[in-house]
Amino acid sequence: MCGIVGYVGNKEAQRILLSGLRRLEYRGYDSAGIITAGRNGETLLREKGKVAELDKKVAESEHNDIIGIGHTRWATHGEPSERNAHPHHVGDIYLVHNGIIENYQDLKEVLADRGYEFASETDTEVFTALIDSIYQAQDKKDLHQAVVDSLQMVIGAYGIAVMAKGNLDEIVVARKGSPLVVGVGEEEVFIASDPSALVGHTDQVVYLRDDEVATCSKDGVHLTDATATKVDTVVEKLELDIQAIQKKGYDHFLLKEIFEQPETLRSTLNGRVLKEQDLLRLGGLNMTDDELREVKNVFIIGCGTAYYAGMLASYFIEQFTDDVVIHNAIASELRYRSFNVPENSVALFVSQSGETADTLACLQEMKRRGVKCLGIVNAVGSSIAREVDGGVYVHVGAEISVASTKAFTSQAVAMLLFGLVIAQAKGMSLKELRPYIAELDILPDEIQSTLNSQNEPIKTLAKKYAHYEHALYVGRDSLFPVALEGALKLKEISYIQSEGYAAGELKHGPIALIDDKFFEMAFVSDNWLYEKTMSNIIEMKARGGHIITVTNSEKAIGTEEVVRVDTKLELLAPLIFNVASQLFAYYVAVERGNDVDQPRNLAKSVTVE
Ligand code: G6P
Repeated sequence: MCGIVGYVGNKEAQRILLSGLRRLEYRGYDSAGIITAGRNGETLLREKGKVAELDKKVAESEHNDIIGIGHTRWATHGEPSERNAHPHHVGDIYLVHNGIIENYQDLKEVLADRGYEFASETDTEVFTALIDSIYQAQDKKDLHQAVVDSLQMVIGAYGIAVMAKGNLDEIVVARKGSPLVVGVGEEEVFIASDPSALVGHTDQVVYLRDDEVATCSKDGVHLTDATATKVDTVVEKLELDIQAIQKKGYDHFLLKEIFEQPETLRSTLNGRVLKEQDLLRLGGLNMTDDELREVKNVFIIGCGTAYYAGMLASYFIEQFTDDVVIHNAIASELRYRSFNVPENSVALFVSQSGETADTLACLQEMKRRGVKCLGIVNAVGSSIAREVDGGVYVHVGAEISVASTKAFTSQAVAMLLFGLVIAQAKGMSLKELRPYIAELDILPDEIQSTLNSQNEPIKTLAKKYAHYEHALYVGRDSLFPVALEGALKLKEISYIQSEGYAAGELKHGPIALIDDKFFEMAFVSDNWLYEKTMSNIIEMKARGGHIITVTNSEKAIGTEEVVRVDTKLELLAPLIFNVASQLFAYYVAVERGNDVDQPRNLAKSVTVE
């Protein structure tokens, strides 16, 4: 969480930092701040609330500064307030920090004994004081060395950018468990916790690895390890363009991303599903056919929407494998369990950002146990992508809205491809494979026609249900994960309390909730479970339920509202239901006047436990 930016060069630092912070705002938006420096000294500006508030403050105090660092915060220690906002300033040191310093109370006591006083409740202020105490003790001022020495004493996770009073030449950055990337331009360097802030400035980037420390100056990047020993700098090309991070005429990023799904799904499938040759190919797995054949257990691990994508994929994969057991796990639970990993297991780590702290921790544990680890990741070059043995990039481009939509669809499909590749290696015949390839082939068009036909009707429907305060989402089989994901989408952007349930479980509790403050969303597939799910719907109806049924059946349904999704798909039909559910959540949130792209209390990339 939190966004970090930095700039050193010849241009106006304040404006560059503010535009970077606006791009990173989805990472956290409780408060924001920048410190810049020039010939007239340092200017520190901080403000509670969004970057727009900070922008007003900067407008009143514009400076022609040429170096600076900035931060947009998602509060961990200390309430959102100006006092707790970054950059923190102690003595000669200015610091922005993403992460958590676990031993900050101990360090605070030591530093208090040395005469330091603290104005905030944050771990970051303690970190700033620690660097300052080391810096002050140096005979010859060396900011890089002061940061290196301080890192020996902190326990925890960090991405940091540090400046020293009077030093107009250097910003020192370091990372452990929290992403940082440095963009290198002509006599200028840009720093960001996410490459989207660098787009339009430079496409030459250096991704910091854990335990690396870099001094950034107009001359470029000087990289060392945690003992200040020089490390070679690898400059990579950033493959992100400005189009990908703009709204392109949509009212919100969320709507744009929902509508992008046909196209982003084609990117996921591109070069992997070769219909003409009846072939599936996943180039990045780094597994031989023999290794694939041996797979008996697949762990699918993630958080939030990524976890539900994994759950949906497990329903898919179970349809065509008979000797593979799938274990779905929520990363924040699994990492603290004493779980067993059977022989012949592989682990999939599902993450849009590739930075989710709990998912990363599970990856490290699985690696420690010698398990083959694969990523189902969107952000190229992210921590998870770097640490896995192989994997499948979903290639959906920048997902800016905090609520995840296009990533979900492509994650589920990428995992289905992985399942099919295992099945192929285990002897699935061409005849058996073809129906799946045929479904994958038409899926993007089917999503497109659902978007075209359902957008307006669902918009109208959402207006009718936007005043409810509670909702129950139900489905069976592969529509159960869709119900869970639908309820999550609704609650995170509309703030309607919504629960996802397996339809068959209604009688074991949730049916007691039904009253006039509730509406129910039921997903019903026209398959062998149709009658079973309809019985659940009738039971809800008998208790006064306000039911919206989403179905691909043409039969009479008889609920308050019916959304008919027209699809020829069988296995992949849940992805069509899910698109309808995404549109519904979006329009309910809009109707309620919410900040759809940046819902309260949330952040896109969760890099704290
Ligand atoms: C946050 C986001 C969710 C996302 C989850 C996992 O909670 O708001 O949209 O599903 O993190 O993120 P990841 O980047 O690992 O997919």
